[in-house]
Amino acid sequence: EKAGYKHFMQKEIHEQPRTIGDTITGFLSSKDEDLYRMIKDTDKLYIIACGTSYHAALVGKFWIEKFARIPVEVDYASEYRYRDRIIDKKTVVMGISQSGETADTRFALLDAKNEGAKTLSLVNVVGSSLSRETDFVLYTYCGPEIGVAATKTFTAQLVALLLFALEAGLGRKTITKDDYEKIHNELLHIPSKVEEILKKDDEIKDLAHRYMNASDFLFLGRNINYPIALEGALKLKEISYIHAEGYPAGEMKHGPIALIDEKLPVVCVIPNDRYYEKMFSNIQEVKARKGKVISVATEGDKQIENVSDEVIYIPETLDPLYPILTVIPLQQLSYHIATLLGKDVDQPRNLAKTVTVE
Ligand code: M6R
Repeated sequence: EKAGYKHFMQKEIHEQPRTIGDTITGFLSSKDEDLYRMIKDTDKLYIIACGTSYHAALVGKFWIEKFARIPVEVDYASEYRYRDRIIDKKTVVMGISQSGETADTRFALLDAKNEGAKTLSLVNVVGSSLSRETDFVLYTYCGPEIGVAATKTFTAQLVALLLFALEAGLGRKTITKDDYEKIHNELLHIPSKVEEILKKDDEIKDLAHRYMNASDFLFLGRNINYPIALEGALKLKEISYIHAEGYPAGEMKHGPIALIDEKLPVVCVIPNDRYYEKMFSNIQEVKARKGKVISVATEGDKQIENVSDEVIYIPETLDPLYPILTVIPLQQLSYHIATLLGKDVDQPRNLAKTVTVE
């Protein structure tokens, strides 16, 4: 059932062109008018989740604020549950969970519902607890994810959140039909662009070989790619047991820059978007302290080679769509480092696929 792949994680990484495409199709063919009627009136959205789903929520915040102009707060479910949140009739609380069974996310949503919030879930498993316990449900269309490390469900969550933000924006008249269509059309090209990145698997494996013995990694990104830095760090630590941290690149000079020396690989997510120049100067700061720079950059960006030890190129897309592409090489990188180190990537120590205890 691994379809010729060595691990479920590897299979699931390579399934992404299809699962992204299926999520686009599935999402568009199941539009719930009542949900968007409610969203027209929403003046506050909380998104709660754990782990990788939390990183999807952080990306979703950028899209929902940009396209639907709804203020969004993102919280770890385990934190949200025990804080004095402010909820009224116009508050929506959205829970994101691949399994739909994560205890922290479930119980936080149930509490919010009791306090009068409207609740919405984004899950991959049909019939899961979360989907039954919330007022509205959105789905990702990935089929079962077996590997403990979330991969295909993450990119599908991103796609669903983007489509949700666009749909909500259309209803709230905060985006034009033209902008909506422009992003939609480009989204349809994302599966083949992901396919392009997956073809670089051998190149990424070689790179993994060169850095597999590092004891720490730093991941940096800005704006909508900052959560991708967090996700890259989580993926690496959970399957390879190498210590890794993700940071917004602009925060570096407030502390983490002290960590940089010639032994530290720094993975820098720097697509050709409007934050390019800022990110570029952050990379120069890393280089000046002799860090080993591994850049994820847009095809054709030659100048990045001057400040990088390694560059992984991804195809060009629209600014808001980059996270769906930039995360792919980070998944491949952690997969290869972990397998080269002989770790059990599908079943990492101390972890369970579904966390049904608090
Ligand atoms: O099923 P969920 O999306 O609610 O799971 C949340 C986290 O437990 C999960 O994303 C975890 O962090 C993964 N192992 C990450 O790869």
